[in-house]
Amino acid sequence: MSRIDDLLSRMTLDEKIGQLVMQALGAGTIVTGPGAATDSSVDDVRQGRIGSILNLVGRDRILALQKIAVEETRLGIPLLVGLDVIHGYLTDAPVPLAETAAFRPDLWEETARMAAEEAAEDGVHLTFAPMLDLARDPRWGRMVEGPGEDPYVGRVMAAAKTAGFQGRDLTDPLSIGATAKHFVAYGAVNAGREYASVEVSDRTLHEFYLPAFKAAVDAGTVAIMPAFHDIAGRPMSGDKALLTGLVRDTWGFDGIYVSDYDAIGELVAHGVAADMAEAAAIGLEAGMDIDMMSAAYREGLKPAIERGLVSVDLLDATVRRVLAVKERLGLFDNPYARGTIAVARPRQERRALVRAVGAASCVLLKNDDAVLPLAPTGGRIALIGPFATTKREMIGAWYGLGDREEAVTIEAGVRAGFPHREVVVVEGVSGLGTETDGIAEAVAAAGEADLVLLAVGEAAELSGEAASRVRPGFTGRQAELVSAVIATGKPVVILLVCGRPLIETEAFAAAAAVLVIWHPGSEGGAAVAEVLSGRRPPSGKLPVSWPSHLGQVPIFYAQRNTGRPYAEGEFFVTKYVDASNEPLYPFGYGLSYTTFELGEPIVEATRFKPGETVNVTVRLANTGPVSADTTVFLFSHDCVASTARPILELKRFQTVTLAAGEETFLHFDLEPADFECLGPDLVPRAEPGDFVLSVGFSADRRLVKTVRVTLGD
Ligand code: NOJ
Repeated sequence: MSRIDDLLSRMTLDEKIGQLVMQALGAGTIVTGPGAATDSSVDDVRQGRIGSILNLVGRDRILALQKIAVEETRLGIPLLVGLDVIHGYLTDAPVPLAETAAFRPDLWEETARMAAEEAAEDGVHLTFAPMLDLARDPRWGRMVEGPGEDPYVGRVMAAAKTAGFQGRDLTDPLSIGATAKHFVAYGAVNAGREYASVEVSDRTLHEFYLPAFKAAVDAGTVAIMPAFHDIAGRPMSGDKALLTGLVRDTWGFDGIYVSDYDAIGELVAHGVAADMAEAAAIGLEAGMDIDMMSAAYREGLKPAIERGLVSVDLLDATVRRVLAVKERLGLFDNPYARGTIAVARPRQERRALVRAVGAASCVLLKNDDAVLPLAPTGGRIALIGPFATTKREMIGAWYGLGDREEAVTIEAGVRAGFPHREVVVVEGVSGLGTETDGIAEAVAAAGEADLVLLAVGEAAELSGEAASRVRPGFTGRQAELVSAVIATGKPVVILLVCGRPLIETEAFAAAAAVLVIWHPGSEGGAAVAEVLSGRRPPSGKLPVSWPSHLGQVPIFYAQRNTGRPYAEGEFFVTKYVDASNEPLYPFGYGLSYTTFELGEPIVEATRFKPGETVNVTVRLANTGPVSADTTVFLFSHDCVASTARPILELKRFQTVTLAAGEETFLHFDLEPADFECLGPDLVPRAEPGDFVLSVGFSADRRLVKTVRVTLGD
């Protein structure tokens, strides 16, 4: 008899239910949700009423609790320990949206690996990451946690992060389980308002929101977390058709669903369950394995079984999946492995990694008169703004256990990076406050400097969960500070601190340069200084379209043509009468200190048959003065299809380094699946006809270079 069969045959009903309950408990618990059902005690662990814990930090505390589970419970089943290890544990990489901007899947995987190692060393088994929610609306604060707007990028991110967290062997004590979240289409919450309902077509769900989760399943993710919201009145925690029908039965997902915080209990507030017993029954029927922080399974599952709402067989099947994941993670064989091993990677190496990623994530939006890079010597620099000196903004949302005191501020980075230039620092205004006292001082400092670095944007706490904004722009009185400093006439470089596009079109127009630094991580200030000095030229590319006006959202590049495509000067076409349709900066946009040139795309043959691959080659040259990285994107457009296709769909990207004057040929292999679309029945199929393949440095379709290929005999 297998270990799991044996255990199941000996478990009481209460012990079975206990395996499905995840609670936060004990001293050292961090808080990541409202205070629902937090009255659990260590005795609940001892009695087998809790099978998993979350938010407990520190290896000694975790190991002590694990010892109780292993040695003092009747069956000795180890606990599963979960935590939000989002963009780092001790050493923080840039926030996920920023990291996406690096377009470096190797780095995406590497930072996840490093976070897994640090977390595992401290006793964690499972992270609630990667967050794979695509977003088209910067009002939604959680855009900061995700991979931006593109489904292909989402897929690559899912694969890289899952590989990084889980490693090659899940029983390796330095690997932790991944949780793909939040399933699904959470980024589409109505009007960008957190936790709101979602309206989404089946096609958009299948083409746009689901593929990243499919990629996580294909990469072997241990867990998936369904989201809080409902789609057209069906809360995700009760969506059997998607959770079980699609993901388990069709995709073959063999891991566990971990609910979001209190989400099964919230089925009552949604209005689809009358009480906890009904909520528990709906959750279990749908396929939810672990109930995080609600009273549904804890208090409602037994009555649900007694009332005949769910069967013990279904409960058994669910418990079996949870035990199987504990087994996959090696917890039965060595419940104390994580928490007792030491990380091999020296601190220096970890800091160097996040510094490199921090620099690679910066996106240069504007650089008039080549004001950047800054020379190592020269006149005084005035570093102005509320985020010049703050550590918190370097880390951003979900700082894990990262020691914020060790974050490198912009001031520290700039002082160390420019030892031969005088640097004067003035905060001017606070990030959130309404006082304007410091503006005069800031203006005076700007007046006496050769150049101003303006560290402004969005406070860290204003992006992330429960941080939707109706005006994603400068917070507090920063707009006044920015105008006053720009009015001095000195060259101003905006260092934009943010977790989402901030719509500050006029300020960008008035500044000499704009460098989006996001929340750049533990080494943030140092990374930014390396970009400013040119030691690492900027190479980040926007993972989301940057609106020029809030009224353009939701905005994304993969638009369809419509029956009345936009045409200059025409009236009856798709357009706004008061602004352009185009974003201020398109997906993929990002300048460098050098210039790159792309040749025409070359294909071996312009006609290909179903099942054949298409190889595209393009010449890329660095025609400017310095060695730098750049990213080339390859898009496809299916010209005529049974359902209208977007004008550009990303199929591949490559990020390469080229020395000044160097040129290379990039090769892209497109697989048969790259030419498929979903038929009217939402099943992928190849439809013969013409495809336009485009290569470019961004999704600006006026600038891409194209070749037409034909699928057919
Ligand atoms: C709620 C968040 O939505 C989710 O992302 C997180 O993993 C859980 N809280 C647990 O902290």
